[in-house]
Amino acid sequence: MASVAKPLDLVLETAKHFRSIYNGTLMINKGFNAQTANDAIEDDIADLISFGELYIGNPDLVERFAQNAPLNHNDRATYYTGGAAGYTDYKTLK
Ligand SMILES: Cc1cc2nc3c(=O)[nH]c(=O)nc-3n(C[C@H](O)[C@H](O)[C@H](O)COP(=O)(O)O)c2cc1C
Repeated sequence: MASVAKPLDLVLETAKHFRSIYNGTLMINKGFNAQTANDAIEDDIADLISFGELYIGNPDLVERFAQNAPLNHNDRATYYTGGAAGYTDYKTLK
């Protein structure tokens, strides 16, 4: 049976395709963490990596990355609920 590509691998393969035909600054996202983002930049797959879910759960994401600190776990049940819960109430390190 053919193996199923992991979502991040699909993102990386897609980025490589566009990297080869696009000369501008390339920013990509979806499913990255600090390590895989740094790897993608070191491998010249993209110029920038952006973060969505990790930023929702970690408003001090840059600080946490810099300190290699643990990340909050996002409660996906709060997505698309229309309220502040799960969007603005995650704890920062300090
Ligand atoms: C709760 C939530 C809502 C989102 N809504 C949209 C949207 O309406 N349109 C869109 O293009 N992307 C949407 N996104 C995708 C983000 O814009 C971004 O591309 C994605 O979260 C990046 O991947 P990452 O979360 O794995 O870092 C949403 C993401 C989340 C977590």
